[in-house]
Amino acid sequence: NYYAILMAGGVGSRFWPVSTTEFPKQFHDMLGTGETLIQRTFSRLSKIIPKGNIFILTNERYNDLVLEQLPEAKQRQVVTEPAMRNTAPCILYASLKIQKENPDAVMVVAPSDHWIEDEDAFIRNLRQSFEACSQKDILMTLGIQPTFPNTGYGYIQYNKETDAIKKVAQFTEKPNYETAKQFLDQGNYLWNAGIFIWSTKSIVKAFSEFQKEMTALFDKGLEMYNTTKESDFIEANYPLAENISIDYAILENAENVYVLPATFDWNDLGTWGSLYDKLDKTEAKNAIVNARVLSEDASGNMIRTSGDKIVVVDGLEDYIIVDKEEVLLIYPKKKEQDIKQVLKKVKDTY
Ligand code: GDD
Ligand code: MG
Repeated sequence: NYYAILMAGGVGSRFWPVSTTEFPKQFHDMLGTGETLIQRTFSRLSKIIPKGNIFILTNERYNDLVLEQLPEAKQRQVVTEPAMRNTAPCILYASLKIQKENPDAVMVVAPSDHWIEDEDAFIRNLRQSFEACSQKDILMTLGIQPTFPNTGYGYIQYNKETDAIKKVAQFTEKPNYETAKQFLDQGNYLWNAGIFIWSTKSIVKAFSEFQKEMTALFDKGLEMYNTTKESDFIEANYPLAENISIDYAILENAENVYVLPATFDWNDLGTWGSLYDKLDKTEAKNAIVNARVLSEDASGNMIRTSGDKIVVVDGLEDYIIVDKEEVLLIYPKKKEQDIKQVLKKVKDTY
């Protein structure tokens, strides 16, 4: 009864120029391991979930890319969206489809682009969560011990008294800096890893309670489940769904949210700097992917080329040096969040 929904619809614009709308980061070998991020995620999940039960949710433009990179997945498992509406609509749509297939399904919703070091620990955490969600009507998430007031994450205030799986007192998606700092000082907060576990019954129920319009929209479409009419319906109606993430749509509102503090090392690989942190470094503390680097007086740099190029660096510290085809980016790591805006400027200019 174990299923997975693999989220693979994001663009990863802070990883420009490698990640682009045409070819987002989850389809790249960001870690230099010979496997793309989505391939690593698929194989990690298949240690506990039958391969045929792993559904991949993505924009329709990436359909062929998914099938090409995951030859073990069948077309039936690729659920495509005609428009980007964030994570709530696609999770509801896929959950309803899975429920049709197996009313007793228990599933994990996982991003396709995260770094997880200890896969065995991840699988153990997942098994424990699956067991809990099979028995109770609860919505679970995996929690990460926070290390700094990151405003890009969801924060989970949990009740210290409860068992291994903790009752969530309050879920706050992307607080401002001041609030995030207060949360850290208080101590009983975890980051939301964005990895959710629940039964299809529980999540569908939560949607019908907190997202009535969205539920009505997709229920109508699912009456035509598995007919050509279903895809026509989705094509016409999916774009009408509210653009909202699962965190705001459900997690912030539901009462039955629980968290399991994760026992694995986690990173959501959101920026070049976070990738740098997770890669092996040279003696001079440079992280290098796909490049042969001659460096002098250069440290803390993230260097990646599109084709094993020779890179000569001298006198540069804490920079991102990345190329792809016609673009070369040389940018300070401390300003990495701005790459999104840089990309926009580049598009407007050229
Ligand atoms: N299929 C599909 N369609 N996938 C999507 C879409 C969409 O429209 N939008 C986003 N995704 C995918 C992304 O590719 C990513 O794998 C995952 O869903 C989460 O989306 P993000 O856009 O990366 O979310 P976030 O980083 O702002 O916040 C979420 O993740 C944090 C941890 O990384 C939240 O869950 C936070 O609470 C959490 O802390
Ligand atoms: Mg993210």
